[in-house]
Amino acid sequence: MCGIIAARVSDDATPYLLDGLERLEYRGYDSAGIAVRTASGSTEVIRSVSRVGDLRTLVAARSGDALTGTGIGHTRWATHGGVCERNAHPHQDCSGRISVVHNGIIENAGPLRAMLEAQGHRFVSDVDSEVVTHLVERALVVDQDLMLAVQIATAQLEGSWALVVLDARTNRMVVAADRSPLVVARAPRGDFVASDIGAIAEWCETFVALRDGDVVELGESWNWSSNGVAVPVPFPTPSPFAAAALDLGDHPDFMAKEIEEQPGVVAEIVERIAARAADGSMWVGLGLPGFDRLAIVACGTSLNAGQVIATALRGIGGIPTDIVVASEADQAVLGSGTLVVAISQSGETADVLRALDRFEDRFPVLALTNNVHSSLARRADAVLDCQAGPEIGVAATKTFTAQVVVGVAAMVSALVASGRIDRDRARELVAGLRELPARITTAGQVAADRIPLLVSSVREATGFLFLGRGVGLPYAAEGALKLKELSYRWAEAYPAGELKHGPLALVDEGTPVVVIDHGEHRLQAAIAEVRARGGFVITIGGPGSDIPALGPTGPWGPLEAVVPLQMLARELALQLGCDVDKPRNLAKSVTVE
Ligand code: F6R
Repeated sequence: MCGIIAARVSDDATPYLLDGLERLEYRGYDSAGIAVRTASGSTEVIRSVSRVGDLRTLVAARSGDALTGTGIGHTRWATHGGVCERNAHPHQDCSGRISVVHNGIIENAGPLRAMLEAQGHRFVSDVDSEVVTHLVERALVVDQDLMLAVQIATAQLEGSWALVVLDARTNRMVVAADRSPLVVARAPRGDFVASDIGAIAEWCETFVALRDGDVVELGESWNWSSNGVAVPVPFPTPSPFAAAALDLGDHPDFMAKEIEEQPGVVAEIVERIAARAADGSMWVGLGLPGFDRLAIVACGTSLNAGQVIATALRGIGGIPTDIVVASEADQAVLGSGTLVVAISQSGETADVLRALDRFEDRFPVLALTNNVHSSLARRADAVLDCQAGPEIGVAATKTFTAQVVVGVAAMVSALVASGRIDRDRARELVAGLRELPARITTAGQVAADRIPLLVSSVREATGFLFLGRGVGLPYAAEGALKLKELSYRWAEAYPAGELKHGPLALVDEGTPVVVIDHGEHRLQAAIAEVRARGGFVITIGGPGSDIPALGPTGPWGPLEAVVPLQMLARELALQLGCDVDKPRNLAKSVTVE
């Protein structure tokens, strides 16, 4: 949710911290702050409840002691405590010697705080993270070793954490992680730490991801411990991101860039996996047991992608498929022979990881993620990489499309490998996937012409309905989700047949109703019912539609429809003056339940 950056470099740390925070801002943007060691061995803390741009201004305006190359930074998505400067990270101990940035949730912060306050520690914020500073301070009274102090402190925590602890007096820096992502990297300029490799990709070609229970001291040489035991430093992994992929280029915002990248992303995926999908080797290579049923576990847009994959699997192979909203996994009862497919672009979504706590001992788990170094990838029995490239816009766009294509290809491969479909059928399906890049390109071009005018006609509407049927339904759901998260307007998706069972009461003169019209003839009845009540129908369909973007659909439904839906949401948000890359109250990686 929040973002962490830290640097130990030979020149001034602040430009690295500020650049890193700007790249991390999509993970949370309620406040941002840095703590940098000064030349005289104290710490300068600068925080802002505005965006990183304002923090930059505050840093530029400061005067005083020179800053050194050791510093930490944080961008916050508020969980405990309101959005105000004293709740912004970094937090400090009573003396100001220890500074800490933290991602995750300290579940036992209440009792720890009471205990520390009773011992005389002064808390200045409402946030759970502050207990860490005082726990480290307390441990240092007994032994001056920061590494040991962080091990002692983290052993008392319950919950999840990625932490960077800076000791201004000794210039030592120790990091720790448990159920929250954190990477460390050594580069020619120095050592870097980040909650997301993308934040430091410009300076670092390789990185090491911390595992649960790791505590690491950076410095001349790294000291690595795992659950309190010293271990060798793990071998570094090449960074998956070219730094250029994180730049906006000529695009007005990341969402525009990422929508536009979809044909290229899909073309690369299809190129990479088409042959292996058609002959079954993609599935065989995963090394998973056969399955009789599938359970898709995911949240939000990934859940909608899962619905598409499930629809395709049912349609092609007649395989029963359960859809499990990850946060409601307690309610799910899975039958024997089930394969769990956990879908998450970030691979760090807490609801998905908690759902696995229920399933992973009893069922094989296949992860479908855009982050093969994530907690989800580490826990799954096999991993499918979406390879969508870095997605910075908080609203998922290209990762949805990539999830659908990789997921459908894997299911085709599983069906042919298990003899449920023959190779000719598999080749025919893969040929359909090969058509997708061109279809997505055309859909984007048509939408670019039609959407601005359509949006000006519905800009004042307070609520929207999205209708679909069968294979079109997950796209209606995705359209509604995108519109509400970006434009802050109410939007509901319904199976078109349900309209007359309640939602039709919402339709009045001018109510916008977006219909994913992939050619199912019964959709016309719903369209007529809306028009009869004065509703403003927008059809995304074949020739003659308001947005004529769809061709004949495969078993995965009208995938290209998602592009006009994304563009509709973005255009409405822009016309309403909203920030499309950083919608209010949201964050890219939802690491709290
Ligand atoms: C919507 C969106 C969210 C995410 C959801 C799951 O645009 O981005 O609904 O899809 O929070 O996130 P991941 O896929 O990282 O598990």
